[in-house]
Amino acid sequence: MDKDQEDEIVCLESFFLNDNYQLTTFTFGSQVLELFCLHSASTDFDLTGQLVWPGAVILNEYLSKNAEMLRGLSVIELGSGVGVTGVLCGRFCNKVVMTDHNDEVLKILKKNIDLHSSFEDLPCSDLVAEKLEWGNSEQINAIMQRYPEGFDLVLGADICFQQSSIPLLFNTVKKLLQIRGEGKCKFILAYVSRAKMMDEMVINEALGHGLLTKEVPGTRSVVGNLGVIYEISL
Ligand SMILES: C[S@@+](CC[C@H](N)C(=O)[O-])C[C@H]1O[C@@H](n2cnc3c(N)ncnc32)[C@H](O)[C@@H]1O
Repeated sequence: MDKDQEDEIVCLESFFLNDNYQLTTFTFGSQVLELFCLHSASTDFDLTGQLVWPGAVILNEYLSKNAEMLRGLSVIELGSGVGVTGVLCGRFCNKVVMTDHNDEVLKILKKNIDLHSSFEDLPCSDLVAEKLEWGNSEQINAIMQRYPEGFDLVLGADICFQQSSIPLLFNTVKKLLQIRGEGKCKFILAYVSRAKMMDEMVINEALGHGLLTKEVPGTRSVVGNLGVIYEISL
């Protein structure tokens, strides 16, 4: 590709990028929070993280109902998007590391972290964003070096929608679960069913990685599609 063609593509990317974020109020049980997000998707498939997804609504309602279980914990979230789940956790947890692979999404995630760190008196001593692409060993190793004590919980909301990324997601999840070891860390996944093939793939990949998957009773709900919370552990 010559220089002129490259310039043309860069120009088109910025033309299509919608970063007209709106400060939006969300209510999850007793928790009300405001953050910047889009209300409709950008044209780029990889910018799914600019919106708040139904899986985040299910997970945040569940966490808000069970907020006591979060108190003092250390949590890492995968595919955080604008940070609606991680920011909620910041009200109860001691440490929250929100991650995403998309640089544009990381920008709005950091803006939402700044918004909450400056206006709320959070108990959380560490509310941070880190770049993490599932399956990227350099990035996961850097996170594991920065947080050698590991995490109590790994969280994910609506992050299973692209088949090719599911094995990589479970590689990353397994590495994070292994830092603490069996019985000391679990992956809470808010899963929204949109295709039968993906439903089976998620369960099979967890199994293939030697992980145990349990549906959390009472968490099935209809958010356009059927959503559910899984607890996945070593
Ligand atoms: C559908 S959005 C969900 C965002 C947020 N959790 C929510 O429920 O509102 C999926 C998120 O996962 C991120 N993501 C997708 N593929 C990824 C990958 N391979 N590694 C890391 N993050 C990824 C996207 O950038 C996006 O923020």
